[in-house]
Amino acid sequence: MDNYTVRPLDTDTWPDFARLVEANNGVWGGCWCMGFHPEGLDRETAGANRAAKQAHVEAGTVHQMLVYDGEDCVGWCQYGPPAELPNILNRKSYDKELVELPDWRIGCIFTGSRHRGRGVARAAVTATLEAIRAAGGGLVEAYPEQVEGRPPQRGGYFHTGPENLFEELGFVRDRQIAKWRWVMRRRV
Ligand SMILES: CC(C)(COP(=O)(O)OP(=O)(O)OC[C@H]1O[C@@H](n2cnc3c(N)ncnc32)[C@H](O)[C@@H]1OP(=O)(O)O)[C@@H](O)C(=O)NCCC(=O)NCCS
Repeated sequence: MDNYTVRPLDTDTWPDFARLVEANNGVWGGCWCMGFHPEGLDRETAGANRAAKQAHVEAGTVHQMLVYDGEDCVGWCQYGPPAELPNILNRKSYDKELVELPDWRIGCIFTGSRHRGRGVARAAVTATLEAIRAAGGGLVEAYPEQVEGRPPQRGGYFHTGPENLFEELGFVRDRQIAKWRWVMRRRV
């Protein structure tokens, strides 16, 4: 982690983020990390997702920590208050047992395909928790995939991260919202 630096996604760092997304085929064939934002994903064109993400960056309605290896952006962790990231996965199941909304959500995490397995996601989530602390802290939720008790999964399926990473960073299970997905929480 000492080799990485972090910067927030903003108009200055947008070109670095865009380069990483383009080098990874738009991420999931063109989502541009739009799935959790209020307008959701445009499933027809990657260009619409790119434009929508850039509009959020210009409007300052996005929170995302970027991880750099030297000059290259190699990964990120998206976060934000629930109003900024309403479209979490398994929303119906989530709402059924909802008691208290968190102050912050962790959305998608992503590491460029050539940089996986070297602590980039750990650096991204750690930097996110530091940014949340600097913004006043509060109750933080993540929605990771269970790792234990199932066959090994390719990282490609862990949009919301592996549970063991969040456990390592102090999150505990709150409730299950899908066969392999949990709400995990911690206070910052
Ligand atoms: C899941 C993902 C973010 C992990 O990134 P990474 O940088 O390789 O992860 P790290 O090296 O920081 O791993 C940290 C910890 O997470 C866990 N982990 C990471 N990948 C894992 C995997 N495939 N299976 C199980 N645990 C895993 C491990 O506990 C690991 O710690 P360890 O290496 O000490 O055992 C990456 O595989 C990825 O980007 N997948 C695609 C996700 C995606 O498409 N997101 C779209 C967002 S819009």
